Amino acid sequence: METQTYIVCVLLLVAHSLTVANPIEKSKCECDHTKLINRGAFPGGFIFGAASSAYQYEGAFSENGKGMGMWDNFTHMYQDKIVDHSNGDTAIDSYHLYKEDVKIARDLGLDAYRISISWSRILPGGTIKEGVNQEGIDYYNNLINELLANGVEPFVTILHFDIPQALQEAYGGFLSAQIVADFLDFANLLFQQFGDRIKYWITINEPWTFSVYGYAYGLFAPGRCSNWQGLNCTGGNSATEPYVVAHNQLLAHSAAVNLYRNKYQALQKGMIGIALISYWFEPLDNTNENHKAKDRALDFMLGWFMEPLTLGKYPENMRVRVGDRLPEFTKEEINMVKGSFDFIGFNYYGAIYAYNKPNSSSFSYTTDSEIDITGIDEAANDTLDISKAIKDEIRKDYIHDHLCCLHEAFEKYGVNVKGYFVWSLMDNFEWGAGSVNINHGGGRGGKNSVSSAGKNGHDHCEGNHPL
Ligand SMILES: *[C@@H]1O[C@H](CO)[C@@H](O)[C@H](O)[C@H]1NC(C)=O
Ligand SMILES: *[C@@H]1O[C@H](CO)[C@@H](O)[C@H](O)[C@H]1NC(C)=O
Ligand SMILES: *[C@@H]1O[C@H](CO)[C@@H](O)[C@H](O)[C@H]1NC(C)=O
Ligand SMILES: *[C@@H]1O[C@H](CO)[C@@H](O)[C@H](O)[C@H]1NC(C)=O
Repeated sequence: METQTYIVCVLLLVAHSLTVANPIEKSKCECDHTKLINRGAFPGGFIFGAASSAYQYEGAFSENGKGMGMWDNFTHMYQDKIVDHSNGDTAIDSYHLYKEDVKIARDLGLDAYRISISWSRILPGGTIKEGVNQEGIDYYNNLINELLANGVEPFVTILHFDIPQALQEAYGGFLSAQIVADFLDFANLLFQQFGDRIKYWITINEPWTFSVYGYAYGLFAPGRCSNWQGLNCTGGNSATEPYVVAHNQLLAHSAAVNLYRNKYQALQKGMIGIALISYWFEPLDNTNENHKAKDRALDFMLGWFMEPLTLGKYPENMRVRVGDRLPEFTKEEINMVKGSFDFIGFNYYGAIYAYNKPNSSSFSYTTDSEIDITGIDEAANDTLDISKAIKDEIRKDYIHDHLCCLHEAFEKYGVNVKGYFVWSLMDNFEWGAGSVNINHGGGRGGKNSVSSAGKNGHDHCEGNHPL
């Protein structure tokens, strides 16, 4: 799967529940570049936001008491895994420039800004026992207070890919069920410290990406995969580890949700959910085998997480193919995982074709679904010179057309969509893809997609190019 190029175009949609009143049968969005779509078309209370994450934005990787994160270790150890050999040591320096970030969000007229908390900035050794870094707490208090003072609602992701390196070394991080208790302690500390002001919590960002990129392809930290795949990993087992890591993420997520519901929600009156990722899949052609391949592709990406969250079990298509390499939930775990969300965040990068690909002779998450995918979308183009890049036409048209289709999704089909977060507020360190566009010089200068929004202030959805 050549999926790493897609990561630059992620968008987050937050829906309180993805209930579909009428099943969408081959619906086709009628939007084009000329159809006007503005904020008034969306229901009152619909949230327009932008998103960020700690490792991609903050920099200051070893400042003021921060411990090493697994991404610090990964980018320093395996520079070849990052296309331009860059890292998040400085990123876009939000640790120092957060006030400027908030001003940009405010001037864009955003209702909300999604941040994540760096676990190793708050707990440098990974656990409460190893000590709480007050300077880390102070940073997030300052950022949250600055957002609120500027009328921008903070959404907080508890874990966005980057766990403390100390926990990787102590017990292999998410490979061990020990992570659940440590994640719960970390989440508890965040609810205690910030929960008076945070009304929207996202436990874990894209558990699929963390499992599959980190443990089946070795593209993301900790860079593990089976040797036979020839992906230059330093160890790992793609047949088992992605499933174990996903399972432990589901347990950690649901433990945090249960803690929040039992101990904090009545008082703090916030909501808690998770941010999943999936492509939409279409069958490559109209054959029965490729329709089935499409269903398997969805089950192995979205169903892997959505079915446990809604039904308390993994999809049948996975159980049949993965067998006892796929962990089982105990009775208590089923009760904990099932229904453990107030909303589902949904990150999507595009749609691709799935086709049947009979299994290979070795086991891996990458072959278990017996599908392959095809079709490459637009990605960031770093070779454009700055005068062209700043025009940002593709992104403007994309966001416009997409918001228009999103509008149709709830207007015509009753999809319960509550908000839309664009990725991202600014160009940033884009994981394996490196420092996307930052090197154009002055990465903090606005693109036209920003100024066309800024000019219209709070009504940034007016006109042909809403953001
Ligand atoms: C990364 O972690 C490994 C242990 O897992 C350690 O041996 C190595 O020194 C670390 N590298 C860096 C650059 O921190
Ligand atoms: C494989 O990884 C090692 C260690 O990171 C690196 O030195 C080497 O260049 C990589 N080889 C290839 C072919 O990417
Ligand atoms: C491939 O499929 C055959 C028949 O369904 C099955 O017996 C075999 O175990 C599978 N092998 C792998 C690696 O999935
Ligand atoms: C990037 O832009 C350059 C210059 O316009 C163009 O030649 C190239 O084909 C583009 N690459 C991609 C992947 O779109």
